[in-house]
Amino acid sequence: MLLRTAPPSFSPLNPSSSCTTRHSHPKTFLPCATKGSNNRPLTGVVFEPFEEVKKELDLVPTLPQASLARQKYSHDCEATINEQINVEYNVSYVYHAMFAYFDRDNVALKGLAKFFKESSEEEREHAEKLMEYQNKRGGKVKLQSIVMPLSEFDHEEKGDALYAMELALSLEKLTNEKLLNVHSSFVSFMFTLMLVNANSFLRTCCISFDVEAIKKISEYVAQLRRVGKGHGVWHFDQMLLHEEGVAA
Ligand SMILES: [Fe+2]
Repeated sequence: MLLRTAPPSFSPLNPSSSCTTRHSHPKTFLPCATKGSNNRPLTGVVFEPFEEVKKELDLVPTLPQASLARQKYSHDCEATINEQINVEYNVSYVYHAMFAYFDRDNVALKGLAKFFKESSEEEREHAEKLMEYQNKRGGKVKLQSIVMPLSEFDHEEKGDALYAMELALSLEKLTNEKLLNVHSSFVSFMFTLMLVNANSFLRTCCISFDVEAIKKISEYVAQLRRVGKGHGVWHFDQMLLHEEGVAA
């Protein structure tokens, strides 16, 4: 603690004073800041914010198109997130096409239609979460083209329900693999706590959902293989129709 003998200009116990606080003990003075105190070396000080912030202050972007929040966020990571947004949108689009197929009057498998509609919305939500993350880190979301999906899902041997579900399983695995690649590209840049947070974001936001979806769709594929193409599919569809939160 620094004890001063010169008349201080400010005292925390008497802010309005000009800092001449002398307590009952005639030799005791309160520590307080004075003009010019920055010029003297302080013992025990490990962080001098106003000194250290100067270089950060010089780095604050002035261009209106530059993010102010961006910090240690590589262009590779930014591009990888944009690619994953595109992957999620593509899968969402395929699921939407499956919803439209199963909702047709001559197909009329309402449970499967509901399942793929909710799955499509969920994949879009994943894309949106990645967009929010991109903006949070000061990156720029760049949406890319999406591919026209199939419109027919019937399959001579498997039938439409099993074929669509196997396709969904493959898409979930593929998306998960691509997300794991995003994860590892972040790991290779992992030198700050913010990037550790990025990985925890990816794990909680998307990877865990995809793993659950893979398990659930695998079970549906197994069940559809048991029931065959006919009446059993109708029962399976009814089960999906009355199940809560069936989305992949
Ligand atoms: Fe996803």
